[in-house]
Amino acid sequence: IQSETPASLIMIFGATGDLAKRKLYPSLYHLFRKGKLAEHFAVIGVARRPWSNEVLREHVKDSVLTSIKDAENIEEFISHFYYQPHDVSDTDSYIELKKLANELDSKYSLQGNRIFYLAMAPEFFGTIAEHLKTDGLTDTNGFHRLVIEKPFGHDLESAIQLNNRIRKVFSENDIYRIDHYLGKEMVQNIEVIRFANAIFEPLWNSRFISNIQITSSEMLGVEERGGYYETSGALRDMVQNHMLQMVALLAMEPPIRLTPKEIRSEKVKVLGALRSIKVEEVKQYFVRGQYGPSTENGEHVPGYREEVNVNPESNTDTYVAGKLMIDNFRWAGVPFYIRTGKRMTEKSTKIIIQFKDVPMNLYYSSDKKLAPNLLVIHIQPEEGITLHLNAKESGGQMMETTPVKLNFSNNDIAGLNTPEAYEKLLFDCLRGDATNFTHWDEVALSWNFVDKISTYWENEKAEFPNYAAGTMGPKDADELLKQDGFFWWPIADLDVDNC
Ligand code: BG6
Repeated sequence: IQSETPASLIMIFGATGDLAKRKLYPSLYHLFRKGKLAEHFAVIGVARRPWSNEVLREHVKDSVLTSIKDAENIEEFISHFYYQPHDVSDTDSYIELKKLANELDSKYSLQGNRIFYLAMAPEFFGTIAEHLKTDGLTDTNGFHRLVIEKPFGHDLESAIQLNNRIRKVFSENDIYRIDHYLGKEMVQNIEVIRFANAIFEPLWNSRFISNIQITSSEMLGVEERGGYYETSGALRDMVQNHMLQMVALLAMEPPIRLTPKEIRSEKVKVLGALRSIKVEEVKQYFVRGQYGPSTENGEHVPGYREEVNVNPESNTDTYVAGKLMIDNFRWAGVPFYIRTGKRMTEKSTKIIIQFKDVPMNLYYSSDKKLAPNLLVIHIQPEEGITLHLNAKESGGQMMETTPVKLNFSNNDIAGLNTPEAYEKLLFDCLRGDATNFTHWDEVALSWNFVDKISTYWENEKAEFPNYAAGTMGPKDADELLKQDGFFWWPIADLDVDNC
């Protein structure tokens, strides 16, 4: 695997869309500025609108300048961009596109290497993939990689259909399914914290860990994505992909080496060991929620059912909490609690690993129960880890204990500007490193798990709304842990003494 990207032609389908503007153009620019993008590269923006090269270039420039004020060499960067108006189901459009692609191949010496990035609605994925082959866009000698965004299907059945269609054109090794959480710095760090330190791995099992909690909360509602969200809900939008990927990274066995194949194969084993929930058990393991209206600084905050493009009687979940059990040797009996939702108290993703209590408490003097050791992995917005320990109360006469924290914060490293997830993922794809993309087996196992829950929910009327915007979700989510003798650790300024 190279440390620089090879010459390549990147075709972005959906070039006028939101994802391209917010993430892809700034990320490509970062790679360009850091000298990571080969000199030999060209980008063809493909979309329906009748834009010209100039219009696209101005658009790319605006998108870069929105986040990067001192964008050096921006004119040179945008000169590599070309625009091709396109109709996804029309053969002539692909023939035009192929002509332009071949011209740019020669002009920039791109060696026939092509990346097809589908930044658009998933219903077009299959059609585009088929046309790319039948209309000859994959006829060159170089590599041909397909990058696709979520959602990859709506359930297992639709995911299989989609997969069958694209696999007729691209081999599994050339399909890069994006899960942008896998591009996050601290998600990538989970593996390093676990496998590059002697002190954690021996404790990383059911003998020493009592439970693991993963919270990914958002403050925003569904914004302008009501239409999509109505077909998805939090379970499909966040759990099937991001949450289960984090579970897999936390629970997997050490891979024999750090190749995409070995890492994926360990993750697949975890997903395959997830205890399958029977329909009658869904209520015992999963809680769903939907935010209702509330008031913030005297202003009305709309409930989900009042959002644009949302059915006023919608049963869509905007919150999910669940208890997952991994039925294997390492994790038998250890609950993994997950929760995620829109319009919660704050925007935060945190993983809390709670260790079992010491065998006996020698420090009874203050009648205080010893706080458990916690390892907190801060995914966002802060990036770092905190280890919660007990120590002697400083200056105290008696052996009184007090909780202390060992902190490592990525954000404190001077000058560190962690690259955005998309920048890292694009770089990996250009280099041909698929480690941080989801393999089909992972997708299939995740849908298989999630489908049971969604099928049950679709057939049961929900009592929605059941949490007010700006809160940590419905009360029932607390019961999930209470019945096991645990509680959700607070995510803000976690201080074990106060819990
Ligand atoms: C996306 C979901 O995959 O992840 C969104 O579709 C969600 O609904 C987003 O808001 C959260 O990502 P992040 O990086 O902001 O935590």
